[in-house]
Amino acid sequence: MEYLLDSADVNSIKEAVELYTLHGITTNPTLISRENKNYKKLFLELKAVLKGKDFHIQVTEVTFDGIIEEAKLIKKLVGDSVYIKIPVTDDGFKAIKYLSKNNFLITATAICNVNQAVMAALCGAKYLAVYINRITKNGGDGPEVIRAIKKIFIDNNIKTKILGASFKSISQLNISILNGCDAVTINPEMFKKMLFSEITKKSVGKFTEDFESVYGVNTTGRNLIK
Ligand code: G3P
Repeated sequence: MEYLLDSADVNSIKEAVELYTLHGITTNPTLISRENKNYKKLFLELKAVLKGKDFHIQVTEVTFDGIIEEAKLIKKLVGDSVYIKIPVTDDGFKAIKYLSKNNFLITATAICNVNQAVMAALCGAKYLAVYINRITKNGGDGPEVIRAIKKIFIDNNIKTKILGASFKSISQLNISILNGCDAVTINPEMFKKMLFSEITKKSVGKFTEDFESVYGVNTTGRNLIK
């Protein structure tokens, strides 16, 4: 199971790398544009913060030739280990086939149905970014699409990783993981929310309170075992 941050915000990524076991980050043109800075410098800044963790960068080109050219530029700038995110359009499928055969790591993205996922896997993608909430808010059932993809992959021994993306709630995230996501990419706000528990917070507070009521408090650290 892999947790990634769906963000291009350097500070959020720095914090997540420091606090948790983060597998990497995913970005897309919208997330990059929100940072409103030179995107080539931002890519290099993000790479440095990631310290070798996975970095998924989405192309902005939509034609086959444009995607190929942009993928080469991204790889040259960021390095061979970068994952190139390509939307599953017709030109996208063609580019995924070509680039995966030419030693590029590919993440197929904007996946909204089972057949797109299977075809992207057959074309050579390493990860499949399935837009769970966008499927649901357009009348589908995002977590159910994950379950169906997973069943087909198990039945056909397809090893491509299912990367859940586009979550609106923790419950949607949890159901998607249970339904078979190999990885999930989550916005920073939800990432922190999913790891917080009021019960945990209150429990720790009570432990401290009980201990201090008997032993007092050593403000410079405690020697618990006398
Ligand atoms: O990577 C795709 C993801 O950022 C889409 O999320 O919440 O805009 O549907 P959302």
